[in-house]
Amino acid sequence: MKILVTGGAGFIGSAVCRHLVEDTDHSVVNLDKLTYAASLSSLDSIASDPRYTFVKGDILDRAFVLDLLRREQVDAIMHLAAESHVDRSIDGPGDFIQTNIVGTYELLEAARAYWSGLEGEKKAAFRFHHISTDEVFGDLPLDDSLFTEDTPYAPSSPYSASKAASDHLAMAWHHTYHLPVVLSNCSNNYGPYHFPEKLIPLIILNGLEGKRLPVYGKGENVRDWLYVRDHARALVMVATKGELGRSYNIGGRNERSNLEVVQTICDTLDRLSPLESGTPRRSLIDFVTDRPGHDLRYAIDATRIETELGWRAEETFETGLEKTIRWYLDNRDWWQPIRESRYGGQRLGAKA
Ligand SMILES: NC(=O)c1ccc[n+]([C@@H]2O[C@H](COP(=O)([O-])OP(=O)(O)OC[C@H]3O[C@@H](n4cnc5c(N)ncnc54)[C@H](O)[C@@H]3O)[C@@H](O)[C@H]2O)c1
Repeated sequence: MKILVTGGAGFIGSAVCRHLVEDTDHSVVNLDKLTYAASLSSLDSIASDPRYTFVKGDILDRAFVLDLLRREQVDAIMHLAAESHVDRSIDGPGDFIQTNIVGTYELLEAARAYWSGLEGEKKAAFRFHHISTDEVFGDLPLDDSLFTEDTPYAPSSPYSASKAASDHLAMAWHHTYHLPVVLSNCSNNYGPYHFPEKLIPLIILNGLEGKRLPVYGKGENVRDWLYVRDHARALVMVATKGELGRSYNIGGRNERSNLEVVQTICDTLDRLSPLESGTPRRSLIDFVTDRPGHDLRYAIDATRIETELGWRAEETFETGLEKTIRWYLDNRDWWQPIRESRYGGQRLGAKA
């Protein structure tokens, strides 16, 4: 298949592009606007592969996207382009409404116009995969309850509300226009090439540099962590084999509190790259004002994708985190320019 990946220069999108080119026979057209969160260097390993093409463009530009779909004759769309950082959505929700809601609407309309013009087997095989988050379900108490595909939507932040809206649009385009849509909702990802505004890379880089390690509130919020390569494999399974009109929850069954995550990073960094002063990194932890509206706990029941599509996470949190920390130690060339010019670690989204 020739797959159009939107947002392919971002964290998860670039992992999807690398997985498609390195581990499958599919071809990739990566459509990305190159916002602050994008890094084309995340795609260096596949940039010269004949099955990979990069196109700079905006999903809000329907005519441009429709022309691209027709020119490239794509077989499927994997839609990841989004504004993705909850803290930024608290400071400025406008870009989230535009890209995540209006952008998804424009992309769905471009896809519908393209798909309507297809014929025969090509039309029957076309698929639109909308990639979303478990944050659309709101939060869970500190018990053993899990999000299933039937959990009602109850988003808390401007980010998760914009993603919930886009999920509803994608499913409505399936029900109303019969556009062949599949949907997935995934828990928190981590891994290489993660933009250092997010918790895990921020703590790794601050820890490496011996800086303070900010933890929101008491650090008791729980997330279900998934290694990004496991998510990329799951996404390609959903895009190519998922049942149309159906959603799939994706998660690693790796629940950890934020404080546990930060402490594990501290201990791993102390082992792999101790500070010259000998200071244990745990002493750098700072409990700071909590995020407004901070969801307490997310946890995914991944039974459907495991039983119906045969997917299973390969990394545990321990193996995935060690790989991730080693990657940041070995790939200063990727993150140093970002820390110096695009995001230096300042607090975002502290005030509602
Ligand atoms: N990061 C997570 O833990 C997580 C978990 C579940 C789901 N998701 C979803 O997965 C997707 C990717 O997340 P991510 O963490 O890789 O995000 P990211 O912020 O790292 O990357 C987003 C990419 O989208 C591009 N983009 C933004 N606006 C665009 C536009 N108008 N047109 C074209 N490209 C545009 C950016 O340039 C960037 O390359 C998002 O839809 C997100 O909601 C993320």
